[in-house]
Amino acid sequence: MNINKNKYRSGVHLLSDAPIEDQLLLKDKALLVSAEGITISDNTQRDNPIIYANKGFERLTGYPVDRVLGRNCRFLQGPDSNAETVSAISEAVRNEREITVEILNYRKDGTTFWNRLSITPLRNDKGRVTHFIGIQSDVTNPRRAEDELRKTTQQLEAANQRMKGDLEAARQLQLDMLPEQTPSLDYLDIAVAMKTAQEVGGDYYDFHVNKNNHLTAAIGDATGHGLKAGTVVTATKSLYNSLAHHPDPVSILKNMSLALKNIGFRNMYMAMLIAKFTPDTLLVSSAGMPYTYHYRRAEDRVDEIILKGMPLGSFPDFDYDSKEIPVQPGDTFLFLSDGLLELPNEKGEQYGEERTRELFAKIAFDTPDRIVAQLGDSATAWSGSTPLRDDMTFLVIKMNSENTD
Ligand SMILES: Cc1cc2nc3c(=O)[nH]c(=O)nc-3n(C[C@H](O)[C@H](O)[C@H](O)COP(=O)(O)O)c2cc1C
Repeated sequence: MNINKNKYRSGVHLLSDAPIEDQLLLKDKALLVSAEGITISDNTQRDNPIIYANKGFERLTGYPVDRVLGRNCRFLQGPDSNAETVSAISEAVRNEREITVEILNYRKDGTTFWNRLSITPLRNDKGRVTHFIGIQSDVTNPRRAEDELRKTTQQLEAANQRMKGDLEAARQLQLDMLPEQTPSLDYLDIAVAMKTAQEVGGDYYDFHVNKNNHLTAAIGDATGHGLKAGTVVTATKSLYNSLAHHPDPVSILKNMSLALKNIGFRNMYMAMLIAKFTPDTLLVSSAGMPYTYHYRRAEDRVDEIILKGMPLGSFPDFDYDSKEIPVQPGDTFLFLSDGLLELPNEKGEQYGEERTRELFAKIAFDTPDRIVAQLGDSATAWSGSTPLRDDMTFLVIKMNSENTD
């Protein structure tokens, strides 16, 4: 035990009637093995010198115990010790209050460590603070880990912000590629609505009108989300621009599929439906898009146009099917991406084909604008507070009653 009994004998009674040094001697064994530094200062002496330090303190600071006795503990501080923390300790000691701080301290060899320091006043039976007990723990590693974690979190947040910015730009690009308005043609009314998911979803639609006023409408959905989906949509848009005039939807799909495959998007495909309208017919072909709903006004009935096919970019030799359907005034078509069909409600149930068909059957007599609006409302009501995970696109085309010959 390194207390210099003669010099620092205080005669103050601590927990029992025995002098503090004797009590410490009793506790010495326990204190010796402590991983923590334990110090006791004598508040009755000028500048509150240390009168006891354990082996843990020696191990922590590198100062042999006999070199620290009689000194105020501030010798552990150095240029990078936080001045505000020092003031806080000073104030607590002056006001005889407990305090716990983390302070950068310097070892004998000049290296630094983070010291979690707790100082507790000890009162004698007259209530006077005669001593302070200081407990020093090395928290350098946890602090370093915390600093690292903080740094990593900041880096992640910055990367997240950048990615959000990129995704926002990609989303804008995707939206910019969509036609600003629907074509205006005598023999049909068109309305389209897209509800976009937070992430870039990859839905796409487009129109082309030839010199005979025949409409080619396209609706598509790139697999996956994000920038990759956005890139596939961009490629599809330029392919559509150059191929839409072709009279046969099957060859449009085949050519697009081959071109997308050749671009070399890995595992990125595009589901796509091409619908060619004249005043009397619809010629339609599909590469992996959901079924089309056809409201036949004459029979007041909704039929499904079922066309199966692999998405573009997967199997360029795939033999796509097409259907030619005679149309009547008042007939209405609903083309859609799978966003609505797969839309989950709060219980995780999908909106599904049946519900879509039933709703469309109820509202198909209405104008295309109102039909897409009602589909959107129904989707919102269904999903509730569940965030939209996929884009949803509704394209409604109605054969105009007055102008069809
Ligand atoms: C029992 C006790 C132990 C202390 N241990 C440390 C310590 O390990 N590291 C430190 O920086 N300050 C320690 N201090 C604080 C300083 O001794 C001193 O109180 C502080 O620097 C504020 O006072 P000052 O402004 O007069 O320097 C301790 C104080 C007491 C009373």
